[in-house]
Amino acid sequence: MAVNRQLKLAHRPEGRVSLSDFTLEENAPPSLVDGAVLARTRLLSVDPTNRVWMKDVPQYMPPVAIGEVMRSGGLAEVVESRLAGYAPGDLVFGMTGWQDYSVLRPGGALGLMRIPSGLELEPEKFLGVCGPNGVTAWAGIIDVASVSEKDTVLVTAAAGAVGSAAGQIAKIRGARVIGIAGGPGKARKLVEEFGFDAGLDYRAPDLVAQLKAATPKGVDVLFENVGGKIMEAAISRMNPLGRVALSGMISIYNGEAGTRYDWAPIMARRLKVQGFNLIDCGELWPRAVRDLASWVKSGLIRAEETIVDGLEKAPEALNMLFDGANVGKLIVRVS
Ligand SMILES: NC(=O)c1ccc[n+]([C@@H]2O[C@H](COP(=O)([O-])OP(=O)(O)OC[C@H]3O[C@@H](n4cnc5c(N)ncnc54)[C@H](OP(=O)(O)O)[C@@H]3O)[C@@H](O)[C@H]2O)c1
Repeated sequence: MAVNRQLKLAHRPEGRVSLSDFTLEENAPPSLVDGAVLARTRLLSVDPTNRVWMKDVPQYMPPVAIGEVMRSGGLAEVVESRLAGYAPGDLVFGMTGWQDYSVLRPGGALGLMRIPSGLELEPEKFLGVCGPNGVTAWAGIIDVASVSEKDTVLVTAAAGAVGSAAGQIAKIRGARVIGIAGGPGKARKLVEEFGFDAGLDYRAPDLVAQLKAATPKGVDVLFENVGGKIMEAAISRMNPLGRVALSGMISIYNGEAGTRYDWAPIMARRLKVQGFNLIDCGELWPRAVRDLASWVKSGLIRAEETIVDGLEKAPEALNMLFDGANVGKLIVRVS
């Protein structure tokens, strides 16, 4: 008899997350209904937004309720299907949650997506560079900011899953690309391994001076993942009529308060600022995945994963995103 281990939110964490913020229950797998598949989770996508979903603050989805299975994207294998076109053994992406078994159905951008077969890429690539993170990067660089070879593009959290893909896609579009990351090792990696034109270390005391030196012609496009002081420094280098693709603000997710930002520099520069989210990207997802998979296969994009083993490690793994302990896509292997 299969057992469904489930991590349910016991109370709202403050600051760092730990296993004690959850209850670990063992239940029977959920019952399958018509129009859905029963899927066994193989890999969990660990995302900064998991931390936001634990908080009772206004956000783009309802917060996870106390006592509810923790929400999460994941890659899963269909074990039983009552949905036309899906069969046992198919690999799918969906909102599996922090549990072994889930019932997934199509609908919404993140409901259920088949992992394309025949592309000869490891399954984990479809959680990162050819999955939600890569599609976010594609949407921000191509759809939101329409980056071209005329642009200087600045990417923050640039050594992470979204940032490293965004910078490399901007390079493919012919732009000059500068990335900001934490520590000299990551800053070097941006240039030597991800092909950025310059890598800056925000942990060094002279970020503003580094930025000035690396952007003699200013910045036309900011792909923003961090918020706070780093975003302020980045905006201070932007050219008039520049574009900001506002992907995320990881620097505020662990705390209670929102960010405070003086809008005057945005007004003075007449910037176009667009927040965007994967939940609105259902239509472009297949096209983006096709592009991303072909770029990865041809070596135009490099992608890394950091993999942690064990469902019960998911809460601690989430902290790694806020410590900068991951390079590329952070994944928890469940089975
Ligand atoms: N709009 C969307 O639909 C969408 C979808 C997915 C993700 N996102 C956003 O994209 C961003 C990156 O997500 P990801 O999944 O790719 O994670 P990631 O970049 O792989 O990991 C997070 C990275 O953020 C950096 N970081 C953490 N706290 C920081 C701080 N206080 N100041 C500066 N840097 C900090 C760390 O790198 P360092 O070592 O460089 O500090 C860490 O490795 C997040 O803001 C996320 O919310 C948006």
